[in-house]
Amino acid sequence: MLKNRINLELEEIKRNNLYRSFKNFYKPNCERKFKISKNISKNFSSNDYLCLSSNEEILNAIKDALKYGSGSTGSRLTSGNINHEKLENTISEFKGTDSSLVYSSGYATNLGVISALCSKKDLILSDSLNHASIIDGCKLSNAKKIVYPHCDVEFIKKILEDEKFLKGNQFENIFIITDGVFSMDGDIAPIDELFKLCKNYNCTLIIDDAHGTGVLGKKGKGSLEHFKIKANENIIQIGTLSKANGLVGGYVTGYSELIDYLINKSRSFIYSTSLPPYVIAGATKSFELIENRNYVSKLQKNILVSNKIFSDIKNINFDNNHKTPIYPLLFGKNTMDMSNYLYNAGYQCIGIRYPTVAKGSERIRVSITSCHEKEDIINLKDKISKYIEN
Ligand SMILES: Cc1ncc(COP(=O)(O)O)c(C=O)c1O
Repeated sequence: MLKNRINLELEEIKRNNLYRSFKNFYKPNCERKFKISKNISKNFSSNDYLCLSSNEEILNAIKDALKYGSGSTGSRLTSGNINHEKLENTISEFKGTDSSLVYSSGYATNLGVISALCSKKDLILSDSLNHASIIDGCKLSNAKKIVYPHCDVEFIKKILEDEKFLKGNQFENIFIITDGVFSMDGDIAPIDELFKLCKNYNCTLIIDDAHGTGVLGKKGKGSLEHFKIKANENIIQIGTLSKANGLVGGYVTGYSELIDYLINKSRSFIYSTSLPPYVIAGATKSFELIENRNYVSKLQKNILVSNKIFSDIKNINFDNNHKTPIYPLLFGKNTMDMSNYLYNAGYQCIGIRYPTVAKGSERIRVSITSCHEKEDIINLKDKISKYIEN
């Protein structure tokens, strides 16, 4: 019975041209700068925005931490608390907060934080393009949820001013939850305006800065640095170690009581084995490098270069003032054909389809890193243009 259902569903996915499968892009010895080969010049699908996943200093920190063993051997509240607090202190310093807590992934962080904080007496206002892990965190919480149109501050304001609705429901807390940088569009949430609303209406702003950290702000500290807002008690920041930091893991950062509460209440934190100590050592090093080296400014220069180059692609609507390394090139129903054409030409440029994005907005998600050279970006643009012109 179950196998039948599985087969039927798989057939339907294939019929709708939505079948997902793996592609392998690992090619030994074709890397320019690093001992670990990642074929950076043609890889435009990675979230390794600062190329830290092959950084020598991080690799050395990881090697050094192998003295603690390969695994943490338990959850943080049992035997798995090794060098984790050092990383948490580093994150707090980096983000300008009191306290932080590390989870096994960004996904687990959103699930664990949102479900622990938002109770049935609360209201969640969530952006329509938020990441799946936020959506799942909201589903897991018992709060009332309203999904607002993408970045629509006026829509939120109307709700916060609707006395009849608010009095009728007697919410204890209202949360506005948003990606800092939207993962599939690369646009930045209006954090300044959302923060103003939160201050005026006494709400809490939860920002998932998975794609903002290491990317936005002079020092790569993320959305808040970009908008020149200091961390404060109206804001909870969530992050991942899997993108600009080049590792794996997630974290939440904010005021001390919040973190204390999560240590005691957040199920994906409490009931899961903590990250291995070598990951923690690498992550600790990665924050030091993001803050003190020129990787962030190199990435930001590459974004300016890419804006110019990509604006030459015909039939693609393009924001010349784009500020992030994520470029959504909308090709609709031709997306997978384009993605396969690029793959066969040696490029990693993943096509994104429903349900990750809405039907009709299928796209190639191009991501730029600090290690791309101008000629790499021009070569990609030329390949894309050739496809369009043929
Ligand atoms: C906005 C956003 N939040 C959370 C996550 C999940 O992070 P992780 O890969 O660390 O689980 C991702 C990554 O896919 C993301 O894009």
